[in-house]
Amino acid sequence: MYNLLKGKRGIIFGALDSKSIAWITAERAVEEGASIVLTNAPVAMRMGTINELAEKTGAQVIPCDATNVEDLEELIDSAVKILGGKLDFVLHSIGMSVNVRKGLHYTEEDYDYTQKGWDVSALSFHKLMSVLYKKDAMNEWGSIIALTYMAAQRVFPDYNDMADNKAYLESIARSFGYFFGRDKKVRVNTISQSPTVTTAGSGVKGFGGFFAFAEKMSPLGNATALDCANYSITLFSDLTRKVTLQNLFHDGGFSNMGISDAIMDDFMESQHNEQNPS
Ligand SMILES: NC(=O)c1ccc[n+]([C@@H]2O[C@H](COP(=O)([O-])OP(=O)(O)OC[C@H]3O[C@@H](n4cnc5c(N)ncnc54)[C@H](O)[C@@H]3O)[C@@H](O)[C@H]2O)c1
Repeated sequence: MYNLLKGKRGIIFGALDSKSIAWITAERAVEEGASIVLTNAPVAMRMGTINELAEKTGAQVIPCDATNVEDLEELIDSAVKILGGKLDFVLHSIGMSVNVRKGLHYTEEDYDYTQKGWDVSALSFHKLMSVLYKKDAMNEWGSIIALTYMAAQRVFPDYNDMADNKAYLESIARSFGYFFGRDKKVRVNTISQSPTVTTAGSGVKGFGGFFAFAEKMSPLGNATALDCANYSITLFSDLTRKVTLQNLFHDGGFSNMGISDAIMDDFMESQHNEQNPS
């Protein structure tokens, strides 16, 4: 504990259960001295265990569908009232693809599903920031973060339309981040996180495979949900005031690797087995 967020106020979106990156970030933020409000979609409240987290962190829970601007307006007004002042940080930890859920291949997208997933996973970030901006609800030198994945830059075939959603999300961070920085001195960044075992993560086809692959490829191994939470805490703190408009890779080095010894060894072994069937 470093008291990095002493006296700061924030909203955490997306804590579904104890595996959620948002759940662990909420715990860490409070350990670091912050007061928080928790929020999630009304349907997730029924499925998840967010009240347990609320009790643990002394936080109030306000339901909000992040695609609904009215919900967002009510959430921001209530959070400012409950926390006793403007906000210092916000975590957008939200993602969902209906095409992925329904098992539709990328080449066979249902465009109504695509639009829904885009609204939840990407456009909601614009809606959230627009409400925060118009209500002037962020303190100067505040920090806003959304979570993303490297499929926004490189091909991971089973990540499906979430790859496109993440590319859009990262672009919103830069575009809105300009206005938030210029007008309100607020930072906006995305963290591009390693594959992490959560409800959203494990829902992606072949997740086990690319989790294990990334682990072997990355010199430091995959970043865990706790590692991600800790990184977010530094970005919410006053120690990173001039970091903005960035997509920050938090992946044990994966994004700059070409090949690792461990992956090469596996490949050579399978080549050997192919050539010498027993
Ligand atoms: N798990 C991974 O491998 C991984 C890797 C990189 C980035 N991410 C990103 O991290 C973020 C958090 O995901 P997670 O892995 O902790 O999984 P998670 O399933 O625990 O969290 C996703 C959250 O999105 C919420 N959500 C869905 N629709 C919503 C709506 N309309 N309004 C408000 N909230 C809504 C869900 O209720 C859930 O709490 C997501 O943006 C995800 O894409 C995850």
